[in-house]
Amino acid sequence: MSQNPPSESSLVREFRGQRGSRRPVWFMRQAGRSLPEYKKAREGVGMLESCLMPELAAEITLQPVRRHDVDAGIFFSDIVVPLKLAGVDVDIVAGVGPVLGQPIRTAADIDALPELEDEALEPIRQAVRLAVAELGSTPLIGFAGAPFTLAAYMVEGKPSRDHLGPRTMMHADPGAWKALCDWTARTSGKFLAAQLEAGASAGQLFDSWAGSLGLADYTRHVQPASAQVFDAVHALGKPLVHFGTGTSELLCAMRDAGADVVGVDYRLSLTEANRRLDGKTPLQGNIDPALLKAPWDVLEAHVREVIAAGSEAPGHVVNLGHGVPADTDPAVLTRVVELIHSIDYPAAS
Ligand code: CP3
Repeated sequence: MSQNPPSESSLVREFRGQRGSRRPVWFMRQAGRSLPEYKKAREGVGMLESCLMPELAAEITLQPVRRHDVDAGIFFSDIVVPLKLAGVDVDIVAGVGPVLGQPIRTAADIDALPELEDEALEPIRQAVRLAVAELGSTPLIGFAGAPFTLAAYMVEGKPSRDHLGPRTMMHADPGAWKALCDWTARTSGKFLAAQLEAGASAGQLFDSWAGSLGLADYTRHVQPASAQVFDAVHALGKPLVHFGTGTSELLCAMRDAGADVVGVDYRLSLTEANRRLDGKTPLQGNIDPALLKAPWDVLEAHVREVIAAGSEAPGHVVNLGHGVPADTDPAVLTRVVELIHSIDYPAAS
């Protein structure tokens, strides 16, 4: 293993558009239920509780790096952890996702939201420091939920398919919607800044549900709040990725919110994504998670296609087009990493 600092790693260089011959790879949700060692570590410990135990959170962050030889760790936490740290009544229900004790529906509900205090972030900073110390030259990626995705959970009170509640609110009560997005942007910005300041080498903003919005609504009612999160951490000088699902029509608007790298889901080829972004933005993605269960030759051909398409962009970090499904055979992920690392491309001149 090289002794270079994480800021000189292949992942960070690729995010900056400095091409190497070996493609860096990590997987969204690489930590978690696909790993038996994760299930063992989590026995008897609630999801949010585990995120607030620094040694445990650092250990879970490291598990997939040890097992798969991926080129980055993703900090083990959740997009609703900063809500919990601010004092919002939220839990993660196994098999369901984030659930709020009381959905946020009115201007008065939004006014009453507690501020996330800096001291509350101490367990996050501690976990990041522990993980970074163990990772050595391998970079850690910090993350936060984007204002829309967080607001969607807060208004619905639980996961939803169509996100009708937040989509109604942004039109019916734009003042309340803006106040809610200001709160989520501030809260996510502090959460992401804490991770980057404690040693994470890059950051990713997850707008998992932005794909339920058309471009006009996204640009008017969501993009300014996401830009606020990027603005809050931009001065730290670390590469920032913006990812959503079903966001093929929003790629340029997501870049323009302030991202250095755009994460592409499995629906759009990297060739087309690169074309839409004028060939100027490094990409991350986009192996279809469904193919992790296909015969190896089918998966291998798909991975090679993704890498070839990604080579047209100014930089490419390989990832899935969404998170690792819980029932994935971890041996398949390890094999995919080996394959990606075995493919040499000439560095761009
Ligand atoms: O490897 C990693 O990516 C680790 C860190 C991570 C988790 N959640 C851990 C987690 C990250 C980056 C997230 C982000 C997250 N959380 C997103 C954005 C990414 C995406 O998938 O679109 C969203 C939408 C959430 C909200 C959330 N938290 C959901 C929908 C769920 C799944 C609920 C379920 O049980 O099916 C969670 C829980 C969660 N977050 C788990 C993990 C490992 C599973 C909890 C468990 O093991 O019981």
